[in-house]
Amino acid sequence: MRNNQRLAGISSAPPSTQDVALTGDRPTGRLHLGHYVGSIVNRLTIQDICPQVLLIADLQALTDNAGRPSFVKDNVLEVMLDYLACGIDPERTTICLQSGIPELSELTVLYMNLVGLGTLKSNPTVKQEMASRAFVGGVPVGFVAYPVSQAADVTAFGATIVPVGADQLPILEVTDRIVAALERMAGSPVLPRPRPLLSSSPRLPGIDGRGKASKSAGNTIEIGEDMDSVRRKVNQMYTDPDHLRPSDPGKVEGNVVFAHLEAFDPDREGLEDLKRRYAAGGVGDMTVKLRLIETLDDTLSPIRERRARLAKDPAQILSILRDGTERARATATRNLDRVRKVFGLDSRR
Ligand code: TRP
Repeated sequence: MRNNQRLAGISSAPPSTQDVALTGDRPTGRLHLGHYVGSIVNRLTIQDICPQVLLIADLQALTDNAGRPSFVKDNVLEVMLDYLACGIDPERTTICLQSGIPELSELTVLYMNLVGLGTLKSNPTVKQEMASRAFVGGVPVGFVAYPVSQAADVTAFGATIVPVGADQLPILEVTDRIVAALERMAGSPVLPRPRPLLSSSPRLPGIDGRGKASKSAGNTIEIGEDMDSVRRKVNQMYTDPDHLRPSDPGKVEGNVVFAHLEAFDPDREGLEDLKRRYAAGGVGDMTVKLRLIETLDDTLSPIRERRARLAKDPAQILSILRDGTERARATATRNLDRVRKVFGLDSRR
């Protein structure tokens, strides 16, 4: 993909060949353009540089979806298809399934002794997610504790960098506290202290212009969505409500169509020129939308075609996941052993 390099937005020091990168996704739906811009593109860059682990966090997904296990299960395959269709290469990126690595759960149980309940309950991301979930019958313990389980994910594979969006920074702080606590207990470093790698790509707005693109808000375009539907959604996109006639000056700022062009259009000069002409007046919304439809078609067509081809053989896709999980598990077992030792649990059983 030609425009990857330009799209890749990583703000802190870029990874080196010595690093191990880890990221994860909850399998609660197909990935959308927000994921593509915010994380997939960075992962494609990173897999060229250093070892990378991609975790499909089905246990974490269950912390707020325990009432619909088959939904989570079905989405494991969907997320796999999205990864592979976008060009994640299982030879260079270890893709693994959280529930296939019981060592992660044991690590979580041990780490639970190193974090206070108050710390979790006052974590800004957890707080905000609790409020938006409106759990019936109380917040599941597993949900409040998911940052602890995420600390297990991050440390089990010896990750040194965790590329994330800003909302995940408070979650990674919990990992940092746990790694520090282990080090205090042992009197020397036990596991690497991973550094977050903040993506510098701006958040893609939802098609309705209300906040970021998110599946729960229903304002996204999925990777692999068919072109008719993409066209329909682009036509519905929020533009500038005061731009009534093509001759009116239009606002580029806050205009969802331009935000998407900014993220996907490889012709930067053409785009700058269009922005100038739109702001001055004389360009209709339809012109801008047609350009976006073409741009998205260029990016998404190869992905959609590859996805459809891969989807014909789910057994093959799941076997790639099983292989990755097995490899990841070997590393997790070694790191769990180190942590068990710190807790005085020397023999494996
Ligand atoms: N919490 C992340 C999300 O909601 C998913 C995730 C699980 C993750 N384990 C991780 C992200 C480890 C980074 C590292 O998207």
